[in-house]
Amino acid sequence: MKVSDKEFELYLPEQEINKSVSTLSEKINEDYENKDPLFIPTLNGAFIFAADLLREVKTPCEISFIKVASYSDMQSSGNIKDLIGLNETIFNRHVVLVEDIIDTGRTISHLIDKLKELGPKSLEVVSLLVKENKSKVSPTYKGFEIPDYFMVGYGLDYNGYGRHFKDIYRLKGKINE
Ligand code: IMP
Ligand code: MG
Repeated sequence: MKVSDKEFELYLPEQEINKSVSTLSEKINEDYENKDPLFIPTLNGAFIFAADLLREVKTPCEISFIKVASYSDMQSSGNIKDLIGLNETIFNRHVVLVEDIIDTGRTISHLIDKLKELGPKSLEVVSLLVKENKSKVSPTYKGFEIPDYFMVGYGLDYNGYGRHFKDIYRLKGKINE
């Protein structure tokens, strides 16, 4: 499968993703019943994961998307922009950050620091994918631990393309070293 100028191969088929998302939503339902949680998915990558995950949430909740960006091409640039779009009150609120993928962990650490300053009652992270042994931050809820390949699909893009794929694909060739 070609995306932009690179070849990718199937890594996680839709059915496996869906199973994992159901398991995650079940845990979240157990932990957040009647806690009035505020879910904060990060754009753009988490839009599909958040839509699937949060439609299974049974307790009253709010959902508010924020935007940050740290990647250009395939390298984490490390320049994390400030949060855009956070209008809800965080103080004294049970907050859950919803991420598509944690790679170096820089984005999520930055978000955690920013949100903690606002005094949430609790702050947890749910991430569909986590690259093994790379990030110091481990989310409370995680879908898959994955090897260090660049991934596309199910919200994740390569140079802006591939977000709409139902399955997740990995870059063909050698693993990142
Ligand atoms: P981190 O700050 O290095 O953890 O990178 C986090 C962000 O980079 C994610 O939220 C994604 O938007 C993007 N990213 C990291 N790894 C990948 C990948 O394999 N494919 C597509 N986007 C990625
Ligand atoms: Mg992201």
